[in-house]
Amino acid sequence: MKEAGTEEQSPELGKSTGKFITFEGTEGCGKTTQAEMLSRHLRSEGREVVMVREPGGTVVGEKIREILLDPRSGDIAPITEALLFAADRAQQLRDVVRPALRKGSIVVADRYVDSSLAYQGVGRGCGLEAVKNLNDWATGGLEPDLTIILDLPLKEGLARAGRGEWDRIELESLEFHRNVRHAYQALKNLYHQRVAVVDALGDPGVVHERVLAEVEKAI
Ligand code: TYD
Repeated sequence: MKEAGTEEQSPELGKSTGKFITFEGTEGCGKTTQAEMLSRHLRSEGREVVMVREPGGTVVGEKIREILLDPRSGDIAPITEALLFAADRAQQLRDVVRPALRKGSIVVADRYVDSSLAYQGVGRGCGLEAVKNLNDWATGGLEPDLTIILDLPLKEGLARAGRGEWDRIELESLEFHRNVRHAYQALKNLYHQRVAVVDALGDPGVVHERVLAEVEKAI
């Protein structure tokens, strides 16, 4: 009997032609702005670009997003939280990311597995290995070609994030967010072949130039 899910989860499937770029970082680091600026730049060069954000991006993913970010969801167990992020990811990979990569597009993602490693693995204390194993299953081991971690002192980031309404995770303690930032620094060492840390302090245009320099080196 064929093992369920193996075909759609194969890491090789669809990676040969497309490119997968992920943006990561702590709250308010400017990922969304930078993902949009990079996408615009790549499109202006004639590349086909698909932008995705996590959690969300599919019908079921948007429902999962609501559960995860709504402060009224209350005290979600760390393992439940990790499973929900992984469930959202598996759906978006099957429905959006893999088809786009298979077509040869560049997929620009606002968060991916490294968010779960940093927030659930370290921040929530689920452990890096457990969260990595869970996500290997959810993604079939699909790794980005390039991960840009936008690094910003917590104070600046939380001040930027604080301009909107705070979601369930933003409402976490300073200690939690400090641990997440340290976790990203550790991920840079663990996955140095695909990870670039970019200084996110400064004007968006200046940060965009730093991002482009990394993209040009890697792709
Ligand atoms: P979002 O509104 O998309 O904010 P941001 O612009 O900071 O990405 O909220 C996503 C929140 O979910 C954010 O606080 C990080 C958190 N998160 C995790 O904890 N684990 C994950 O795997 C992902 C994808 C996000």
